[in-house]
Amino acid sequence: MNDSSASASSDVAHTLLNDTFLRALLRQPTDYTPIWLMRQAGRYLPEYNATRARAGSFLGLAKNPDYATEVTLQPLERFPLDAAILFSDILTVPDAMGLGLNFVQGEGPRFERTVRTEDDVKRLAVPDIDATLRYVTDAVSQIRRALTDAQGRQKVPLIGFSGSPWTLACYMVEGGGSDDHRTVKSMAYARPDLMHRILEVNAQAVIAYLNAQIEAGAQAVMIFDTWGGALADGAYQRFSLDYIAKVVAGLKREHDGVRVPVITFTKGGGLWLEEIAATGVDAVGLDWTVNLGRAREKVGARVALQGNIDPSVLFAPPAAIRTEARAVLDSFGNHPGHVFNLGHGISQFTPPEHVAELVDEVHRHSRAIRAR
Ligand code: CP3
Repeated sequence: MNDSSASASSDVAHTLLNDTFLRALLRQPTDYTPIWLMRQAGRYLPEYNATRARAGSFLGLAKNPDYATEVTLQPLERFPLDAAILFSDILTVPDAMGLGLNFVQGEGPRFERTVRTEDDVKRLAVPDIDATLRYVTDAVSQIRRALTDAQGRQKVPLIGFSGSPWTLACYMVEGGGSDDHRTVKSMAYARPDLMHRILEVNAQAVIAYLNAQIEAGAQAVMIFDTWGGALADGAYQRFSLDYIAKVVAGLKREHDGVRVPVITFTKGGGLWLEEIAATGVDAVGLDWTVNLGRAREKVGARVALQGNIDPSVLFAPPAAIRTEARAVLDSFGNHPGHVFNLGHGISQFTPPEHVAELVDEVHRHSRAIRAR
């Protein structure tokens, strides 16, 4: 345990001006608790809406590395966040599989083609990442350059990401968002053979996609399992967790001699915490239903934890935001291995000034906890 911090400091990139986030993911001591926010670049920021208008659409933004770089950096210019996250979307992968992604204004994502029949499943294949998702890996290298000054010093680390095989399957089978996931869950129970075939293709695609992001310069990667929590106990393990574990086992965990930590986040996955922690990930993301202190007692010796304030707290006045932020930090306590985040993505109705209050309180109060 003792020499882990000594050897570990050489695990993180030397050129980083702020490596707090990477150190926390590796459960090394930090001067304060690092913070970033899921969906930190997005519609709550007027400057994002302005760039999106110039790009013409969300996909026009995401598929252009110049625009993607610009909006990735926007939240970092406003707030002293401890990590950047690639601006993209999880649905780029099924789009690269040929399903035809569109974003209908006010309705969310829609695919032109769904994957429902035996023939659909037969046709499904792992896309050639270099041919179809080059705009993502180009954005990753461009963002890394934009985060780095003339002396070669990088402001904060860059996170890459992907959807989980199951969460991608939800959109591929339903053809878009769904309230009850009726089509995809019916398929899982009625034709598990077809479902497992989709999940196998997705797992191989996610491995290739995340490894391409790591090679392009992503310094940590996160797997978003937004819909794992829609599954029953037992089904979750078979249809989501087993494939997350497969992805984790296929990832490059080191690049240029530097560790690349892996985070996984199952929304609604609190009851499966121990099993999620056993997949081989470095960190587990938690939604706001989980007691952070108890989660740390259960799995804190094995993984770092990321989360987990309710994003709705950001609608309250500054004093209430600060009180709630302190409660999350106090619940985790004075231990290494915590990355502060929201329990899910930031709402488009969040006042940006409130984010500044949250970031400030997390930095201030976590320093105070360490001084106790
Ligand atoms: O965190 C970040 O700042 C990086 C960007 C990011 C986006 N999507 C940008 C985005 C990330 C990490 C995602 C992941 C994502 N996308 C998930 C998993 C995480 C989660 O929130 O559960 C899912 C399920 C999606 C699929 C998706 N993309 C939906 C359902 C929607 C429409 C709903 C909505 O919130 O608008 C999107 C669109 C999307 N992805 C937007 C952004 C900023 C809004 C699009 C716009 O500008 O109109």
